[in-house]
Amino acid sequence: MSALFSPLTLRGVTLPNRVAMAPMCQYSAGPDGLPTDWHRVHLCSRAVGGVGLIVTEATAVVPEGRISPQDTGLWSGAHIDAWRPITRFLAEHGAVPAVQLAHAGFKASTHRPWDAERGGVPDAEGGWTPVGPGSEPFVPEYRRPTALDERGIAAVVAAFATAAGRALDAGFAAVEIHAAHGYLLHEFLSPLTNHRADGYGGDRAGRMRLTLEVARAVRAAVGEDVPVLTRISATDWVEGGWTVEDSVVLAGELAAAGVDLVDASSGGAAATAAIPVGPGYQVPLAARIRREAGVLTGAVGLIVEPEQAEQIVAAGEADLVLLGRELLRDPYWPNRAAAKLGATPTWPNQYTRAH
Ligand SMILES: Cc1cc2nc3c(=O)[nH]c(=O)nc-3n(C[C@H](O)[C@H](O)[C@H](O)COP(=O)(O)O)c2cc1C
Repeated sequence: MSALFSPLTLRGVTLPNRVAMAPMCQYSAGPDGLPTDWHRVHLCSRAVGGVGLIVTEATAVVPEGRISPQDTGLWSGAHIDAWRPITRFLAEHGAVPAVQLAHAGFKASTHRPWDAERGGVPDAEGGWTPVGPGSEPFVPEYRRPTALDERGIAAVVAAFATAAGRALDAGFAAVEIHAAHGYLLHEFLSPLTNHRADGYGGDRAGRMRLTLEVARAVRAAVGEDVPVLTRISATDWVEGGWTVEDSVVLAGELAAAGVDLVDASSGGAAATAAIPVGPGYQVPLAARIRREAGVLTGAVGLIVEPEQAEQIVAAGEADLVLLGRELLRDPYWPNRAAAKLGATPTWPNQYTRAH
């Protein structure tokens, strides 16, 4: 029996298998942050392909929290209406729809990767002044942020909670808090980017405070039955930065705040970090957090082979495997993997004659 193709129950929701689609920005929303036909095709094809949990791209809780002017959002009723047909299709095809709720912090208002220009987008081209823990830009080419004061921080916490409520109205069955990759919550967590002297900075407890406040507020907003995941950067890969030991502590506190699964990514707070990229390179982070904090984890990063994914779950290194680029290359990866691993693929009736 395949471990990868066994169900996983998180609170009131059962994922049909342990294959998740990792959140991936598509830079294809309108200036209003509404998902478009691109998102519909992009997300829905992976449901047809057999993915158990589909996590949307980083979806901003406030307009200034978008990474690029083309990011999706969930800051108004219009967003609820635009996401609803997408979540309905995903659920109809057996996938659990999850939204990654995000705030880009000092990495907001940047160009799409395929734009000729790099770095910050100026106001004249639809950009804005970002916010962050301090007023230093991430790198000189990015826009200089305004440091959040305590009122601004409270507004961020409230925005995550309100967006989580909207997510349920939009038909999402689970929520992932984005606390990784050098975006706002990670900027507060990491000593590399948080130099505050108030109660949201200083020691690890102070730096964890914003993320934990967001986790508690999101849990309160979605009630007891809805799974809440949190993506963290389990290490900064930099001497003096956030470490996996810190992540073990954070994971325990997140679980106490009502988080059901920690999605263990890494990096993003330092442009110069030397990341040892290779097959499954972040799996040991998920395994260690799972073992030492006693929380469910997701593994992500260069997981491409069905046997590799199967082994991660079977060996108890993670409870969920998230695939990013491999699912861009092959939306049908889960159904192909199921066939290879002796599980039952879930091809839709319309495609029966192809198999
Ligand atoms: C095009 C693209 C967009 C991404 N956007 C996001 C995002 O919105 N949120 C996030 O947490 N990670 C994002 N990531 C990181 C992926 O979720 C994933 O962690 C990373 O690609 C490593 O997994 P992979 O080797 O399976 O692709 C993105 C990656 C890619 C390739």
